[in-house]
Amino acid sequence: MRFDIISLFPQMFDALDFGIPGRAQKKDLLKLCCWNPRDYTSDAHRTVDDRPYGGGPGMVMMYQPLADTLSAIRAQQGHAPVVCLSPQGRRLDQKMAQRFAQQTNMVLLCGRYEGIDERFIQHFVDEEVSIGDYVLSGGELPAMTLIDAVTRMLPQALGDAESAEQDSFMNGLLDCPHYTRPEIVADSAVPPVLLGGHHEKIARWRLQQALRRTQKRRLDLLQHRQLSELEQELLNDQSTAD
Ligand code: ADE
Repeated sequence: MRFDIISLFPQMFDALDFGIPGRAQKKDLLKLCCWNPRDYTSDAHRTVDDRPYGGGPGMVMMYQPLADTLSAIRAQQGHAPVVCLSPQGRRLDQKMAQRFAQQTNMVLLCGRYEGIDERFIQHFVDEEVSIGDYVLSGGELPAMTLIDAVTRMLPQALGDAESAEQDSFMNGLLDCPHYTRPEIVADSAVPPVLLGGHHEKIARWRLQQALRRTQKRRLDLLQHRQLSELEQELLNDQSTAD
């Protein structure tokens, strides 16, 4: 999958040279290409922003440098969905990431300053995406977040030990707790069921833990999800309550 990223700070995306996105790039499963709107300006100062009409603080990213950047991308890559990272967007979740992972190409637009001239958004942006209800200094970190979440779902991006199906949220639940050696640390023991080698019991315990955690911490997730008979039974089971 290829992402063409419009950003005034392309070096920030070097952070994706590590870990799973880094390995996916080396394996040619993921290609990132950054385009700086400053390279598509015509004045000596390479101006990309201006003061907002109507007054107020901050600067707004101008239409023309962005439109010319997108034209250059389209001349090379053809048409692809354009996503703008913005706190005004719809919240990124696992389902949205799965939908994006079906694409072969996407354009990500990273805003800076107070915002982007609304006419560019109206003319060219297919979807605005937020990563949460807080304001960051720009769309670069949100774009990296989106790329990382989508990369995990690309076939062959994860090794056997990292299967995406095991990821938290893949089944609409929070993850269960995890433990590694030693068996006892600071007077805390590993739950005995994990030491017994009984795979079915372990799977039931993990599902029950995931359900209980989700109920306790993110009831909204459970309310949006139909529970199977087994899941309902595990949630109602008081015999092993914490
Ligand atoms: N740009 C600034 N804050 C953002 C957020 N929370 N999500 C997406 N893009 C942003």
